[in-house]
Amino acid sequence: MTKRALTGIKPTGEPHLGNWLGAIQPALELARDYETFYFIADYHALTSVHSAEDLRRYVRDITATYLAFGLDPKNSFFYRQSDIPEIFELAWILSCFTPKGFMNRAHAYKDAVAKNEAAGKDSDDGINMGLFGYPVLMAADILMFNADVVPVGADQKQHVEFARDIAERFNHNYGKVFFHLPEPRISATVKTVVGLDGRKMSKSYDNTIPLFLEEKALQKRINQVVTNSQAPEEPKDPGQSHIFALHALLLNAEEDKALRERYLAGGMGWGMAKKLFFESLNEQLRGPRSEYNRLIADASYLDSILAQGKDRARAVAVPFLDELRAAIGIR
Ligand code: TRP
Repeated sequence: MTKRALTGIKPTGEPHLGNWLGAIQPALELARDYETFYFIADYHALTSVHSAEDLRRYVRDITATYLAFGLDPKNSFFYRQSDIPEIFELAWILSCFTPKGFMNRAHAYKDAVAKNEAAGKDSDDGINMGLFGYPVLMAADILMFNADVVPVGADQKQHVEFARDIAERFNHNYGKVFFHLPEPRISATVKTVVGLDGRKMSKSYDNTIPLFLEEKALQKRINQVVTNSQAPEEPKDPGQSHIFALHALLLNAEEDKALRERYLAGGMGWGMAKKLFFESLNEQLRGPRSEYNRLIADASYLDSILAQGKDRARAVAVPFLDELRAAIGIR
């Protein structure tokens, strides 16, 4: 049987270069070898996005973005988490098999507590139960569809391990393998994408390169990448340049070598280095950008794709949840 890969995308902001190279591209590549499940984790986003307008916009953006980069909704399951009520019922069931101590130890929760304590606030200040219980809902996302592998960023590895552990407890208690044990898949090839300031590209640092800016705005954004003050004629160390780090993500080995040599030879100023990066990126984004613009203007088409995804995903989830209910004595 073909193995299943599943990943969730949290709609919390405008899609940027880091999302594309770090998440979208590697996720879409899995469709060659796996039966793939991609979903928009809108109820996970609700732990932090509390504006209805923003949430609606982010969901539409993400839907159009995945399609623009080539997700084929006929070949993959592509759905919105909130369209599958079975996931939320399963989350409750799983929560009854989850030691509370797990949640206390979850990285996201612990980080939030540590921040509060460092700021001299109450340790649970601003922390809602959605954030606290986040890993249980994520376990339900994964186990509902019996995913074998879960491609995620390194920060999400622990959540997948929780899902495994919860699955084992459930299987063990009812004496049958209802759930496959999912494995986290942290892509080794994808390097961290640096942002304008050289830190990891992230919305929370406000250092992103959004994917679908118009050309002029994209160029302007790229001009904001931080460089040192070396003069144009000076040789430049590619290993120390954020522009090079970004540009290299788009190049094959041969192109990488050629660009490295240009940096080292001297005679190329930062303005030129930025221009070259802009040209490469713009070239690669041209197709997806026009597709995105077409899709984002067609809300009814996006809705129809998500409606089909809902039907396909529920055709899997509904009978499986029935089986689980019978097993636990609820039916
Ligand atoms: N927590 C993930 C993130 O922040 C998103 C997510 C939700 C997810 N449910 C999932 C990822 C299930 C993989 C599997 O990026």
